[in-house]
Amino acid sequence: MWTPAILSLLAATAFAQYGSNSTLGPDADGKYEIKADGIRGLFIPYGASISNLFIKGKDGVERDIVLGFDNATAYEGEVHPHLGGVPGRYANRIKNSSFVIDGVKYNVLPNENNNNDTLHGGPNGWDYRNFTIVSHTTDSITFSIVDPDGEQGFPGEVISYVTYTMTPNTWKIKIVAMATTKKTPIMLTSHTYWNLDGFANPETPLALNHTFHLPYSGQRVGVDGILIPDGTILPNEKYSVNDFWSAPKKIGTNFTAPELEGNCGTNCTGYDNCYLVNRAQNGPYDWRNTGPVASLSSDWSGIKVDIYSDQEAFQMYSCGGQKGDLPIKSTQGVQGRPAFVQQYGCVVMEVQDWIDAINQPEWQREKKHIFGPNSPTYTLEADYVFSTSK
Ligand SMILES: *[C@@H]1O[C@H](CO)[C@@H](O)[C@H](O)[C@H]1NC(C)=O
Ligand SMILES: *[C@@H]1O[C@H](CO)[C@@H](O)[C@H](O)[C@H]1NC(C)=O
Ligand SMILES: *[C@@H]1O[C@H](CO)[C@@H](O)[C@H](O)[C@H]1NC(C)=O
Ligand SMILES: *[C@@H]1O[C@H](CO)[C@@H](O)[C@H](O)[C@H]1NC(C)=O
Ligand SMILES: *[C@@H]1O[C@H](CO)[C@@H](O)[C@H](O)[C@H]1NC(C)=O
Ligand SMILES: *[C@@H]1O[C@H](CO)[C@@H](O)[C@H](O)[C@H]1NC(C)=O
Ligand SMILES: *[C@@H]1O[C@H](CO)[C@@H](O)[C@H](O)[C@H]1NC(C)=O
Ligand SMILES: *[C@@H]1O[C@H](CO)[C@@H](O)[C@H](O)[C@H]1NC(C)=O
Repeated sequence: MWTPAILSLLAATAFAQYGSNSTLGPDADGKYEIKADGIRGLFIPYGASISNLFIKGKDGVERDIVLGFDNATAYEGEVHPHLGGVPGRYANRIKNSSFVIDGVKYNVLPNENNNNDTLHGGPNGWDYRNFTIVSHTTDSITFSIVDPDGEQGFPGEVISYVTYTMTPNTWKIKIVAMATTKKTPIMLTSHTYWNLDGFANPETPLALNHTFHLPYSGQRVGVDGILIPDGTILPNEKYSVNDFWSAPKKIGTNFTAPELEGNCGTNCTGYDNCYLVNRAQNGPYDWRNTGPVASLSSDWSGIKVDIYSDQEAFQMYSCGGQKGDLPIKSTQGVQGRPAFVQQYGCVVMEVQDWIDAINQPEWQREKKHIFGPNSPTYTLEADYVFSTSK
């Protein structure tokens, strides 16, 4: 479907566009800006990551509501919490770092839990690499990556384009990926950490007071103690700690409930769960106008984000692993408080498919996880729509 000729035409078109505006280079911190009315974002080639997102709060002050580092260089230090990038070629965890395609077993490089599994594509996953900028205009930027055959143990070459576009009050993401030579697993996402107060709420540096809603998510993927799916699909019963569907609820509402202990893995209290998005029950749907799959808001800043997506699962992590050593940016925080992310200081939200479906064949999601030269292109789309209460 994607012949080399089409691909080089794509790239040439993109480069021509970039060339026509050479003033749109990186700023002094190595970041690239795109903007529209009410929204401004900064991006870096490392991981095709978002590093800053500015939205005005109800007090009229612009808040930087995503986690990141102050400059592009800092992303390549020892600490790598996957801040705002595109993990690939297979996001989340791969059980036992292996999978089978057409009867052939493949082993990929492990990098988590004493090498029991592979997280976010391995020790040199996509968000450890520099993408190439193929297009940059005032309101849009496109990154690309060529992931070679055999890299991290994955079969076949994958070529991917990640496009971020700003329209009024909206951040749009479109990701395509082509498996050009062999059948291989592909699952991607945007791994962005949020604090809708920009850490500037004088009452709390935490995100536990953010209100979260998952209107389509009455079920979630069952996992073991290291968050590897065990094949089960669990009910998020009404009023249980994982019920974010029957009504919006603050992230911290159920933090004293015993059921929340271990909910994000052994010895972890909070959330790091893959919720299913069940929309087909209402008949054929167009993801752009069936309402958001998730919403997050903060009363203090007044900022709300509604997330629309074509993906059929949604991961939410309540940052239980933060321990006060990850710095916030100079654009964030309040004077007199430690400029570091505290435990539960953020919320990670990921639009994606059912995690590790390559190792759960009975889920019958192969067409959404295994791609080859003769299959349709992998695509992911999401719109993050912002509004501010009065
Ligand atoms: C980038 O940020 C890091 C961490 O804040 C800082 O140590 C470093 O000096 C900065 N580098 C540049 C080139 O500004
Ligand atoms: C995990 O993978 C290794 C290496 O391929 C294999 O020897 C072992 O049997 C696998 N374990 C399980 C539980 O599947
Ligand atoms: C991982 O694998 C090692 C050795 O195979 C084992 O001892 C350990 O219990 C496993 N689990 C975790 C969570 O590290
Ligand atoms: C990414 O690009 C920067 C800037 O050119 C460079 O310093 C860095 O070494 C590159 N990192 C990788 C992993 O290629
Ligand atoms: C290039 O920049 C100019 C001035 O900022 C702008 O008017 C024009 O639309 C840009 N061109 C492209 C292709 O983005
Ligand atoms: C949490 O939000 C409520 C309003 O919904 C507010 O009264 C309370 O002060 C907030 N708590 C913190 C710690 O910000
Ligand atoms: C979780 O919080 C909701 C809202 O306050 C409450 O109705 C529900 O009983 C709580 N669930 C548990 C298990 O504590
Ligand atoms: C969980 O916590 C208990 C008590 O602190 C400890 O003994 C145990 O080793 C911990 N388990 C893991 C997997 O971290």
